[in-house]
Amino acid sequence: MSTTSTVSALTAAAVTSDLPAAQQPEWPDQAALAEAVSTLASYPPLVFAGECDVLRTRMAAAARGEAFVLQGGDCAETFASATADNIRDRIKTILQMAAVLTYGASVPVIKVGRLAGQYAKPRSSTTETREGVTLPAYRGDMVNDFEFAEDARTPDPQRLVRAYHASSATLNLVRAFTQGGFADLRHVHDWNRGFVANAANVRYERLARDIDKAMKFMAACGAEFDAMRTTEFFSAHEALILDYERPLCRVDSRTGDLYDTSGHFIWVGERTRQLDGAHLDFVARIRNPIGVKLSDKADIDEVLRMIDLVDPDREPGRLTFITRMGAGTVRDALPRIVEQVTASGAEVTWICDPMHGNTFSSASGYKTRDFDDVVDEVRGFFEVHSALGTVPGGLHVELTGNDVTECIGGSEKIVDADLNKRYESVCDPRLNHQQSLELSFLVAEMLSTPPTS
Ligand code: PEP
Ligand code: CO
Repeated sequence: MSTTSTVSALTAAAVTSDLPAAQQPEWPDQAALAEAVSTLASYPPLVFAGECDVLRTRMAAAARGEAFVLQGGDCAETFASATADNIRDRIKTILQMAAVLTYGASVPVIKVGRLAGQYAKPRSSTTETREGVTLPAYRGDMVNDFEFAEDARTPDPQRLVRAYHASSATLNLVRAFTQGGFADLRHVHDWNRGFVANAANVRYERLARDIDKAMKFMAACGAEFDAMRTTEFFSAHEALILDYERPLCRVDSRTGDLYDTSGHFIWVGERTRQLDGAHLDFVARIRNPIGVKLSDKADIDEVLRMIDLVDPDREPGRLTFITRMGAGTVRDALPRIVEQVTASGAEVTWICDPMHGNTFSSASGYKTRDFDDVVDEVRGFFEVHSALGTVPGGLHVELTGNDVTECIGGSEKIVDADLNKRYESVCDPRLNHQQSLELSFLVAEMLSTPPTS
């Protein structure tokens, strides 16, 4: 056995437990699983420990109100959609949103793609039945295929290895696009001018003009635009399938600490955050900045115990709560959680996911979200933090750079009858390019005129 695989085997043992793990596939072929896991353990890291440390300090700044986090990307990435155009357009959308939010918040925006690892999904049922045929549920391309056929739906461990390669190729493009001049603030600003030139978006013209003036002011002052040709960009995904996450853990040679090198920021979802479960135990053992999703059902005693488990040292930037309450619920359910977490002395970063509490089935049968609900949950999130004197640290959205028709509303006025035109998500509905930009203009307005209540 080579030295590398010995280190990896030791690493895997350090992040493995006997605790029950929710939402794991039943791999039919254990020998194939063992082979895939050992292949992953032998591969180079996708991200580096030092980068995760940088992101932790950025998240800490967001918790203090000195930065604002933007996390965005597909609900579920697919292998087929990991193309250069798709990746470029998602990055472009995030960069455009970030430029607008930077102006609105007057602080740096931390850009985090929900990508390069978002290949697994929790499901409400382990099986799916269509016309009397029952098959395993689709759990994401990392596990099985979306096609409704027995072969396609059988969990295949080689998909774990494919997920690594797709993530590696994605990150390679992300690094190229964000370091090679594509992210130049002047381009990004030009793209945003294109957005407001569309008649449907005239109401954002004023904000765009203000940004334009700010850019000219900076240029007149001799601002170092060359320094703005590149940008930091981090990756994030839900740490769901432990047979993928565990073998990608590595020991940092500088400190001896463990990192999950599958992504910079990883989060534990609403369905897998059991206190006595394997997922929270796993993230407690690694040094990456960690997110935990909280719905309106979150029990405050459990939330406080989660903090003790994942962030016992109360380290700034270590723990982020991503709240996803629903537009109709956020104003009632969020205050008690924020209040009690704050009273406990913990310093977490608060991020709003205005997507997952606002999903419904449309009359025509599509899983969708209403743009107005998304905006309203963000507004509620800001109102709650403003009333409590706490910090709204960022946004977590499901989006794509394409002109899909998955969420209703927005300035293009997408209605139920439009959803079948271009519904491409294999899981939850995403904001399209226009809706994403519109959200950023609306949030920028909220940030620059904070609620008084
Ligand atoms: C998700 O982020 O796609 C997701 C499943 O979210 P949650 O765990 O909040 O339901
Ligand atoms: Co989703």
